[in-house]
Amino acid sequence: MTNLISNIELPHSISLLEKMAAASIEKGPFTYVQSGSGAENTLRANVNAFEDWHIVPKVLNDVSIRDTSTQVLGTKFPSSFGLAPVGVQSIFHADGELASARAAAHYGVPFIASTLTSYSLEEIATALGKSPRWFQLYWSNDIEITLSMVRRAEVAGYSAIVITLDTTILGNRERDLNNSYSPLKLGKGSANYINDPVFQSRLGDSSSNDQAVIKKIVDVMFAPALTWDDLRTIKNHTSLPILLKGILHEEDARKALHYGADGIIVSNHGGRQLDGCISSLEALPPIAEAIQGNIPILLDSGIRRGPDVIKAKALGATAVLLGRPFVYGLAVAGEQGVRHVLNHLINDIDISLALTGLSLMEQVNYSVIRKK
Ligand SMILES: Cc1cc2nc3c(=O)[nH]c(=O)nc-3n(C[C@H](O)[C@H](O)[C@H](O)COP(=O)(O)O)c2cc1C
Repeated sequence: MTNLISNIELPHSISLLEKMAAASIEKGPFTYVQSGSGAENTLRANVNAFEDWHIVPKVLNDVSIRDTSTQVLGTKFPSSFGLAPVGVQSIFHADGELASARAAAHYGVPFIASTLTSYSLEEIATALGKSPRWFQLYWSNDIEITLSMVRRAEVAGYSAIVITLDTTILGNRERDLNNSYSPLKLGKGSANYINDPVFQSRLGDSSSNDQAVIKKIVDVMFAPALTWDDLRTIKNHTSLPILLKGILHEEDARKALHYGADGIIVSNHGGRQLDGCISSLEALPPIAEAIQGNIPILLDSGIRRGPDVIKAKALGATAVLLGRPFVYGLAVAGEQGVRHVLNHLINDIDISLALTGLSLMEQVNYSVIRKK
């Protein structure tokens, strides 16, 4: 990895930053973050869906003092956004998740650590200090490994578990296949497994054989046989709130309520799983209708600017998560690059709220939005 660009003025638009990221790191990792699955219809739809809605601003409301924050399950989101779980971040910068965690902590932006990180959840917790953090769980087909990771997350101060449900198997990522690029097979997302006592106990004699370890991780990583009833297992083993990530159907939103989920994340994994599936923003209104304010709804996939956050809020999201943009910052300039992206979005959200004619993010509702 080269990270050619550093210590230079960074652009204030994500599309320019994306171009700089392309010039900063090698083709394999860059394509890995930028691309989606299949024909990338859903990847494009995620961003385009925000153009289907217009904000209808109000005036003469005294917006001189503003508060863009939101509370979600006891966690403060100072600008109503957090960082989405993104695995294998050392392929973008040697400091990987430690850099993005430090940048998030600088602004108090909640950080969601993936299961598939390059640094362990404990190392990431140290980098975060006292800053808010949740742990994203890929439910392993070995339940003891799943429960061990949840226990470790509790000890390391993660205050919620996000279970990602849209990754029963990996999506058909054609551009990565064309590049023959798989960070998992290079061992870039192994830290939480090799530091896990239960996973270690499963290795037997092969613990010093890197290829055998990677193969074992790939074998246990996902649990395609999982069903709604399995959620009871996790609820019985942790007192942390559970959020379900990857909900797109309003019937699943109702089931999430029924099975006791504490929150849901409307997401299609940034268009990286089922190509041709609905964009997150289009999925949101019927889900908000089904949830009726009973539990918080987060949304990711396609958030790029401040007005996107206002639109998601107006359509029923409590808060949103940011994916690729912070990774472009990481690729270009490590922690400073992520800080730059966060600072830019924090300002853009504040400006967008003021110009919508509101002083509190909590005042954003359906009355300030209209379908094209
Ligand atoms: C490089 C990359 C790695 C990702 N890794 C994970 C992961 O480990 N776990 C997970 O739940 N989601 C993962 N995601 C999906 C994000 O959490 C999020 O849903 C998505 O990036 C949001 O879309 P956006 O990139 O358009 O903002 C990943 C996304 C990217 C781009």
